[in-house]
Amino acid sequence: MRAILLLLLLPVLLPALLACGRDRDPRPQVVAPAPEVGARGNPAKDIDGLRRHVPITSEITPLPMATAENFDIRRGRAYPMQPPTIPHSIDGYQVDLNSNRCMLCHARSTAAQFQAPEVSVTHYMDRNDQFLAEISPRRYFCVQCHVVQTNAQPLVANGFRDIDSLLRSERELQ
Ligand code: HEC
Ligand code: HEC
Repeated sequence: MRAILLLLLLPVLLPALLACGRDRDPRPQVVAPAPEVGARGNPAKDIDGLRRHVPITSEITPLPMATAENFDIRRGRAYPMQPPTIPHSIDGYQVDLNSNRCMLCHARSTAAQFQAPEVSVTHYMDRNDQFLAEISPRRYFCVQCHVVQTNAQPLVANGFRDIDSLLRSERELQ
């Protein structure tokens, strides 16, 4: 029975088998290795900060996880419309459809009771600058803009200078 089946399939299988043989290249193609990623030694082209200059081909030892600062010490803002960083831990503070833990302390009605700064008026404005009674849906998910302060060190250098220090150095030049 099996032999008959094989015989019947032969016209189909034979050309396929032959085609396989023809495709096989006798000499394998040798491709030159790609250049190393990350232009080390050239700070202008250095895109490798996040990998801390470890070549892409070797395993990186992860940095220890940063710990959240929970000292209630506020950091300055680098520019007027910067969302302030959060000076306390937010572990377990749930923000979902039914409740917003942050607003327990930061709502206008309860802020004094918790000695917390209340969210500014911008958090009650809709996109047409109308003031709403409740927190605006645009500002509902707080950690979209506000981040917890941690002891993490910057991975890439940052030369940002705020307008005050720019104006000051300009005045000193005159
Ligand atoms: C149990 C009350 C409480 C809860 C809940 C709470 N906070 Fe706070 N928050 C405070 C207090 C108190 C301060 C002021 C810290 C200080 O004493 O300097 C503060 C400060 C802040 C600040 C700094 C404001 C500034 O002007 O520097 C931000 C931002 C902030 N909280 C965001 C949040 C976010 C986001 C959540 C939710 C994930 C949250 N908070 C939940 C009590 C709370
Ligand atoms: C879309 C970004 C965004 C979201 C979402 C957002 N904030 Fe803010 N927040 C800001 C910015 C920007 C500022 C600083 C300028 C201002 O007051 O509008 C600020 C300021 C604050 C301040 C300081 C207010 C003051 O007068 O110094 C607190 C406290 C605060 N936010 C808490 C919250 C809480 C709690 C939530 C969630 C319910 C939240 N924010 C959601 C952008 C955001």
